[in-house]
Amino acid sequence: MRHFKPSLLATAALGFAFVSTIPAYAQAPATAVEAPKGTPWTDTRLDADTRTELLLKEMTQDEKLKLVFGHFATAADWLNARGDIAGLNWKPPVESHHQSAGFVFGVPRLGIPNQWQTDAGVGVASQVGDKPRLRTALPSGMATAATWDRDLAFKGGAMIGREARLSGFNVQLAGGVNLMREPRNGRNFEYGGEDPLLAGIIVGEQIRGIQSNHIISTVKHYAYNAQETNRFTASSNISDKAGRESDLLAFQFAIETGNPASVMCAYNRVNNVYACESDYLLNEVLKKDWGYKGYVMSDWGATHSTIPAANAGLDQQSGYPFDKSNYFAGPLKEAIENGFVKQERLDDMARRILWGLFSTGAFDKPVPVAEDQIDFKAHAAVTQADAEGGIVLLKNTGLLPLATTAKKIVVIGGYADKGVISGGGSSQVYGQGGNPVKDLGLGPKAFPGPLTYYPDSPVEALKARTKAEVVYHDGKDVKAAVKAAKGADVVIVFGTQWTGESLDAELKLDENADALIDAVAKANKKTVVVLQTGGPVFMPWLSKVGAVVEAWYPGTKGGTAIARVLTGEVSPSGRLPVTFAASLDQLPRPKLDGDPKSDTIRTQVNYDIEGAAIGYKWFDKKGLKPLFAFGHGLTYSTFGYSDLKTSTAGDKLRVSVTVTNTGKVAASDVPQVYVSAPASAGWEAPKRLGGWDKVALKPGESKTVTVTVDPRLLATFDSASKTWNVAAGAYEVILARSATDTASKTTVTLNAQKYDVRGK
Ligand code: NOJ
Repeated sequence: MRHFKPSLLATAALGFAFVSTIPAYAQAPATAVEAPKGTPWTDTRLDADTRTELLLKEMTQDEKLKLVFGHFATAADWLNARGDIAGLNWKPPVESHHQSAGFVFGVPRLGIPNQWQTDAGVGVASQVGDKPRLRTALPSGMATAATWDRDLAFKGGAMIGREARLSGFNVQLAGGVNLMREPRNGRNFEYGGEDPLLAGIIVGEQIRGIQSNHIISTVKHYAYNAQETNRFTASSNISDKAGRESDLLAFQFAIETGNPASVMCAYNRVNNVYACESDYLLNEVLKKDWGYKGYVMSDWGATHSTIPAANAGLDQQSGYPFDKSNYFAGPLKEAIENGFVKQERLDDMARRILWGLFSTGAFDKPVPVAEDQIDFKAHAAVTQADAEGGIVLLKNTGLLPLATTAKKIVVIGGYADKGVISGGGSSQVYGQGGNPVKDLGLGPKAFPGPLTYYPDSPVEALKARTKAEVVYHDGKDVKAAVKAAKGADVVIVFGTQWTGESLDAELKLDENADALIDAVAKANKKTVVVLQTGGPVFMPWLSKVGAVVEAWYPGTKGGTAIARVLTGEVSPSGRLPVTFAASLDQLPRPKLDGDPKSDTIRTQVNYDIEGAAIGYKWFDKKGLKPLFAFGHGLTYSTFGYSDLKTSTAGDKLRVSVTVTNTGKVAASDVPQVYVSAPASAGWEAPKRLGGWDKVALKPGESKTVTVTVDPRLLATFDSASKTWNVAAGAYEVILARSATDTASKTTVTLNAQKYDVRGK
């Protein structure tokens, strides 16, 4: 993480001059503690609120202060070389776990466990270093969102949470739900796409899965952390109304669905105030309006002050010494003594953290390291199912599934003989079997590198599933690749786009892949392209190829998943969770704001340009034709829809439809329900996703699915009264296969309705 140079809002500027030292805490035991038996707060029959209050009143001031101060848990020489913290000789606490993200001391006397924190959303990550943990990686967050499958999201979360627990972690820094406002954002792969409902529900399910292991999950990065360029200094500027109807709504859905015990506030500023000291975001929206009971932890290096941050609602400083001072240790104690932060504020911080530990069960179920109990075989099946569910067939003129009559298949490029790619940065999971491209010098050597592949080779997986001869060519020499492609029954070109934390990306494939695909497709019409990308890319060669498969970053069983989809063992069922733009000038910001070379530039990013009209909503509003629409995805079967019906009983809009598999193979469909308000309602865009379902059907089989539309998706938010308002009138209900499709539609008349800030 050498790139971290967070800027400082010095406490000195607020009248204090604190010396930055690591607090000399009493040593806590290296393993999990058992709560002392017989004390009232250990009674698991009591609810989390009661237990929290019982315990809180036993705590001394210093014990409360321990809970609110987190340490980086990895030794890194660069930290000691920092000039801005004089005399720092950083060594992570001995109780922390090697190469992990963070550590917070507990209070053994009272049975409060240490908090061992690990990244991230696709599995148990390791910080860059000598001995990473080798763990199961799920497909990227974007891929899981592309499954549109609540059950897979939950199961994936449950699996990585189990690996976290057995690796000795009780806090997983997962739950990335920042909406894709910027397709070049280098962290889009960690997030859930562009729609507040889809992202909120899928990420919420993942969080629910993680916490089913009695550990804490975060939801992050709160809020508007939509680009990596100047992420420590940029200000995301947006109105309250637009945010409540978009990014904040995604957080609201994720929190309601997953009930995460922690929210991680983001690096960036929002309307020029640091997210981690934004009274508006933390106190007002999160805690007051939404009634959130968990705690807010800062991102690593995102705390900039003691008094403003504490009073704005930050509950735990993370990852010291990423920040320039130990703001929530000695300085906080002093600020309380001097009356700048009220005692009740510290009590509230401790209360929220205790509540998180009790409500998840992390307090009662210690996390001793038990790595030998990880069932990697069972977990491989979970990640494979997720990858298979998220692979999107974008185009198919009939080349897929691969014909069983094919005699020779030529596979080109993308290191497909070695494995599948993953995204870089703090979320990096290192897979079992090591990194098969380690010695090739790909990508940055330091953070967010190294560029990591998982050793599940698509070529080998294909060979195991076909009688054809499968020949691999690395594609480095385009002419030689073209020669190899000629005469093949089918050619499969692999194109990758590596993206990573701290860097924004161009919407193109790495190395020579675009030129390679173009040349190969000219030489052999039977060219299939398999993409592994962080998010959308342009496809200048699209009209020349016969089929395109988007596999995202498919996780540790990604090669097998890709091969199974190519051969038809599995029918593709993923749908795009983001719009693929056809050109940069279609975007709200054709040019990315900021300067990637500057650490200090206070970039202003105007998100009021599109407001809540993100992704497909922007394209709809502006009448733009995307390369591929949100919700798009083909399969090997066909589906028919019948009996589209609506009902408004009990104030809720319900939509039902019967889906029939009219084709020849078993497959899954994703019927999508979009809603469109009368113009007088003043929506940000012509239509919104109101709901969806995913149904697996055998040939000839039918199922009726019912979708209930959340009233907030039919309403606009009024900032003054903090209410959601549904305008009276005739609404279109569109059943569709994507945001640009209409399979069937009907009209429903709604009465004017008002809901409170929580949509109740
Ligand atoms: C920075 C990242 O933004 C965040 O997602 C992560 O959890 C922390 N570092 C800890 O590694």
